[in-house]
Amino acid sequence: MKLIYNTLEVVNWAKEHADFTVGFVPTMGALHQGHLSLIDQAKKRVDKVVVSIFVNPKQFDSNSDFQTYPLNLDNDLELLKNKAVDLVFHPLSAEELYRHEDFSTFSFDGIDQVMEGIHRTNHFTGVARVVKLFFDLIQPDLAFFGEKDYQQLLIIKKMISVLGLKTQVVACPTVRENNGLAMSSRNTRLTSQEKELAANIFKTLNFCKKKLSLSSIEELEKECFAQLASFSNPEYFEIRNANDLSKNGNNQAKWRAFTATKLGNVRLIDNIALN
Ligand code: PAJ
Repeated sequence: MKLIYNTLEVVNWAKEHADFTVGFVPTMGALHQGHLSLIDQAKKRVDKVVVSIFVNPKQFDSNSDFQTYPLNLDNDLELLKNKAVDLVFHPLSAEELYRHEDFSTFSFDGIDQVMEGIHRTNHFTGVARVVKLFFDLIQPDLAFFGEKDYQQLLIIKKMISVLGLKTQVVACPTVRENNGLAMSSRNTRLTSQEKELAANIFKTLNFCKKKLSLSSIEELEKECFAQLASFSNPEYFEIRNANDLSKNGNNQAKWRAFTATKLGNVRLIDNIALN
């Protein structure tokens, strides 16, 4: 496993491996089974797997969230070595990385105007900027993203189609703890009591799935929001079309439920397919 800290070396690596299929798994580190499942998918699909570890300051809307974002580099590198990843890119400085940026803003067709897009100002522009930068440097054929961050997944797909990039997105299912809590680097900041309470998020999502055909969307959203409020501090609970995150859809439409809620000062997001 090769470890690279600077951008020009990554560009050289990409040139040297131009004849291979390359899969890319972008992460912010503090790796868990969710991240590792993306790497397992990548190993099955491509010749060479690249993982980035970079806590991207441009996608944080809160400085305290950025400052307290968990870091565990030694452990991450050990996990990646065990997975026999080909290249780990760990930029040491945002300044050096962003010097190579070629990004101009474009429209996400409203996908960025709901849920996380409203509650986290500039978050998705920050995500798109760093992912575009990584794509430019690494030139991956496939890039692996988790459905845990479903809205992010659609943002990246939209960016690829608007900019006509060659990379294809592979969507990977959410990996959960035994109690249903979606794995997340931020879970390490939960107390054990909060972790138990957080398991109820998945219960509420499943309650929503069961009741989908029995009540109106608006009533169901309200009911689920109230359930979340009984053990946490919810920001939203929304049922949206899985294709474009709109509220529109015919009988054939695929629906998903999305939520963000806070336990203590830890903000958790989750979503599931409803039909
Ligand atoms: P991060 O939160 O580290 O997540 C990296 C990737 O792992 C994302 O595609 C995310 O959806 C996926 N992931 C996280 N938890 C998961 C779980 N429980 N099951 C399956 N996949 C999971 O998402 C980011 O970093 C950043 O925004 C990034 C794309 C790296 C850009 O900075």
